[in-house]
Amino acid sequence: MMRRIRIALTKGRLEKSSVELFKKMGLDCTALENKGRKLILPVGDYDVVLAKAADVITYIERGACDIGIVGKDTIAESSGEFYEVLDLGIGKCRFALAAPQGSDFFAGYNVKTVATKYPAVASGYFEAKGMDVQIIKIEGSVELAPLLGLADGIVDIVETGSTLRENGLQVVEEIMPISARVIVNVASLKTRKAQIEDFLKRLEAAAGM
Ligand code: PRP
Repeated sequence: MMRRIRIALTKGRLEKSSVELFKKMGLDCTALENKGRKLILPVGDYDVVLAKAADVITYIERGACDIGIVGKDTIAESSGEFYEVLDLGIGKCRFALAAPQGSDFFAGYNVKTVATKYPAVASGYFEAKGMDVQIIKIEGSVELAPLLGLADGIVDIVETGSTLRENGLQVVEEIMPISARVIVNVASLKTRKAQIEDFLKRLEAAAGM
């Protein structure tokens, strides 16, 4: 017998709204909402795992899980092979280039330094502009970098804009809109087509699309 379909959910910001969608699909989310330290949780006929965004992509690429819910930000930063099948319209935010208020990021001819958690996205953005920049990879609280004199600007996620505001930074240019996407393992979509399409159809309906 084939194992149950495995779904990888991104922990944190997207978690609550993903669980809400599952409930709207009529799935019993008791185990998911009372998870304790257990890592594989039964939800209806599915097994659900909660993981960091980059790991959700790894699980789907390698077929450890069949279906994943992850932000477009992490997808844009990855180079993996999987199908992106649905935009859930939750977790909406955007990538932006930001710099200290009152500064002119594009002024002058010196090579600018940019701090980011998303070096691939940032390089792609500046390459498209034909601009040579030095990119510094930071793991979190990227807004600190310009305040510490480490960078001229940042490429980061902006949601409400309050982190930028409270740290004297402003958006220089928006780069790309972000929202949660559904991704599927390439082989799973062939071998378990009916089951996966059924799940996607119900998820799409729950997301109100
Ligand atoms: C993200 C992002 C910004 C903030 C933007 O960080 O990196 O810091 O959210 O949200 P806002 O526009 O509503 O203020 P996150 O909280 O995910 O943590 P991190 O700093 O560890 O990346």
